[in-house]
Amino acid sequence: MSRKELRVRKIKNGTVIDHISPGYALKVIKILEIDEKSNDIVSIAMNVPSSDGEKKDIVKVEDRELESNEVDKIALIAPNATINIIEDYEVKEKYDVELPRKVKDVIKCSNNNCISNTREPVAYQFEIKQKSPVRLKCIYCKNIMEGDLSDYLL
Ligand code: CTP
Ligand code: ZN
Repeated sequence: MSRKELRVRKIKNGTVIDHISPGYALKVIKILEIDEKSNDIVSIAMNVPSSDGEKKDIVKVEDRELESNEVDKIALIAPNATINIIEDYEVKEKYDVELPRKVKDVIKCSNNNCISNTREPVAYQFEIKQKSPVRLKCIYCKNIMEGDLSDYLL
């Protein structure tokens, strides 16, 4: 492919989530609740060669900015993703997803006996022990969560 060609065309306004770990684009789509009922215009590229020689996925959502809890969820499953805010075809802002030291109500505990799963209302809360690969510790039962966390996202 020539350098001038793009696999997925540029967007005029919206958000490009780039450098997603290969295979995770569809999980990002799920986090953003994009489906036939939402009106978001979305382009997805998967297994695209990245400048570092590795593969990556890209998700482009037109006319939408992400909420901070959506960015936190993306950071949990794709810790190396970058968020690009596009305005009138230009990258207006670019930042790496970054997990805060604690996350509240973005992911549930995988321990069925945890108080956060048994007694309501208790907010799910985790301390971030490591960012990439992600390692979380439940503040209640001290359960450590790592690996593919997508099934536990709220
Ligand atoms: N992009 C887009 N529409 C635009 C501008 C940019 O879809 N109007 C996409 C690009 O295709 C790229 C991402 O947004 O996937 C970031 O754009 P840019 O910063 O120009 O690319 P790079 O410099 O390659 O980014 P990085 O250094 O983060 O890899
Ligand atoms: Zn727990």
